[in-house]
Amino acid sequence: MRAVLVVPAVLLACSADPPAGDGGGTTGAASTTDAPTGGDATGETGGGTSGGGPVAPEGMIPIPADGQRAGDPAAGYQALVNNGYVTCGIPWTAYSKVFGEAPAADRLPGRAGKNATLPYNYTAYTTPGGIELVSANCLQCHAGHVNGELVIGLGDTTADYTAAVGGTAALAAAFLTDPAEKAELQRFVDRLAAIEPYTQTRTIGVNPADNVAAVLFAHRDPKTFAWNDPPLLELPEVNPFPVDTPPWWWMKKKHAMFYVAAGRGDHARTMMATATLCTDSVEEARAIDAYFPDIRAYIESLEPPRYPFAIDAGLAETGREVFESTCAGCHGTYGPDGVYPNLLAPIELIGTDPMLALGAAQFSGRFLEWFNGSFYGEVAHLAPETGYMAPPLDGVWASAPYFHNGSVPTVAAVLDSGSRPQFWTRTYVSTDIDRAGLGWKFTALDHGQADEPALAERKKIYDTTLPGHGNGGHPFGDALSDAERGAVIEYLKTL
Ligand code: HEC
Ligand code: HEC
Repeated sequence: MRAVLVVPAVLLACSADPPAGDGGGTTGAASTTDAPTGGDATGETGGGTSGGGPVAPEGMIPIPADGQRAGDPAAGYQALVNNGYVTCGIPWTAYSKVFGEAPAADRLPGRAGKNATLPYNYTAYTTPGGIELVSANCLQCHAGHVNGELVIGLGDTTADYTAAVGGTAALAAAFLTDPAEKAELQRFVDRLAAIEPYTQTRTIGVNPADNVAAVLFAHRDPKTFAWNDPPLLELPEVNPFPVDTPPWWWMKKKHAMFYVAAGRGDHARTMMATATLCTDSVEEARAIDAYFPDIRAYIESLEPPRYPFAIDAGLAETGREVFESTCAGCHGTYGPDGVYPNLLAPIELIGTDPMLALGAAQFSGRFLEWFNGSFYGEVAHLAPETGYMAPPLDGVWASAPYFHNGSVPTVAAVLDSGSRPQFWTRTYVSTDIDRAGLGWKFTALDHGQADEPALAERKKIYDTTLPGHGNGGHPFGDALSDAERGAVIEYLKTL
């Protein structure tokens, strides 16, 4: 394990200087003209702009590779779906009285014991004190349906975080008599109560995870992970800005985690930060960390699902040419010789909603400082840029809606900024795929959330006038003709 230099948080929040990618963890003076440096210790392809890839547009910031601990993907899958890395939850006694066995479509292969009958997004875990709990796992947010299929690694874009999360868990107490079980449930209910005001999004489908992380950091001592009921740091804004959960298959190509390229150094360590909800000691965290390199290796082994409908090969070939001359400089090339350049667009260049890029929630000063000075900071660090990564476009047909905030329902609208709906809604039904526009079928509305009296309808309205919800920017498809845009869309179906 290597030491990482802790950079003052204020510098991180606005610096365009990513650490050098030599795995040494020192701050490098990488300027925007430096090519990505450093080898990926796991030996995957996809890094570097060398090798005849398209030329990067001026002003893009290269994100260097950092060395990763080696892991075993098969062991990683087993750990992901069987291990108890979220160590608080609802006692099995109560869970099993309310919920029956999961239907076959919601079960996953390769699960052991009680996990075999639980839905994919829950895991059974026995505490050191011998109490069986059921807790949410990573697939709560990182598995979703498209075209009727459950896809591991696809962000769940139907989850409803608009309501309070704690209420239902507290109800489980009615099913418990054992004081030790009651105490375990109370631990979980207390945690939920702390994060609750900070998890409530304005729209169904977007995710509050970045804000939740900030709240958890605020309640924990960075050195011991001991929980403090009064927060040790000033809490973040109550209303989380919307984030569209990214598909996991991007990570085999990306040098840094998160839209703002904040996750540097050892990715396995940063991925396990989800355990911050319940892990009350560094010792416990270290035991979880021991198998997270395997989970990282599994995540990096994932391929996107293939486009399930017919593709016009001739049109797609025309689209490839347009794509390679107009888009590939940022998004890379695809196929066997494909090169992904790992570039981040500064906010002035990309122009999409600035809120996340300007350092919101866990990506703002005090929280960066907390993370980098904590157990996580031993080998990983958060170093966000003021902009967004140009993501890989593999499997883009499946990962609508688009942009970091999920503000645009189709690729067609991404490529024609004037056609983006200001207010829109969708059915949240995974077979309602817009094959022509690529993405979700949607209905444009004539009013936003403020003018919708029915609560049930209001939270289904993606209202781009709300803070963090803006749908502007990324004008790079605007100059194309309709025919060229159609061809590019056909090509994107092949990725
Ligand atoms: C409550 C929802 C939620 C849970 C649970 C969750 N994640 Fe995430 N995850 C997110 C969101 C949202 C993002 C995007 C954050 C951003 O980029 O600002 C993300 C980002 C990531 C990324 C980076 C992807 C990229 O392309 O940059 C990885 C890897 C990841 N999560 C792994 C995990 C693992 C492993 C677990 C379980 C230990 C987990 N997540 C649990 C919501 C969640
Ligand atoms: C100057 C760099 C740049 C160019 C050129 C560019 N893009 Fe992008 N693209 C980005 C960035 C950065 C984002 C992420 C924006 C965000 O999340 O706010 C993005 C996002 C996207 C997305 C949404 C991905 C998702 O899953 O959310 C699609 C689709 C896309 N671009 C397609 C294209 C196509 C097609 C072209 C060519 C017509 C193109 N882009 C040209 C930088 C670029």
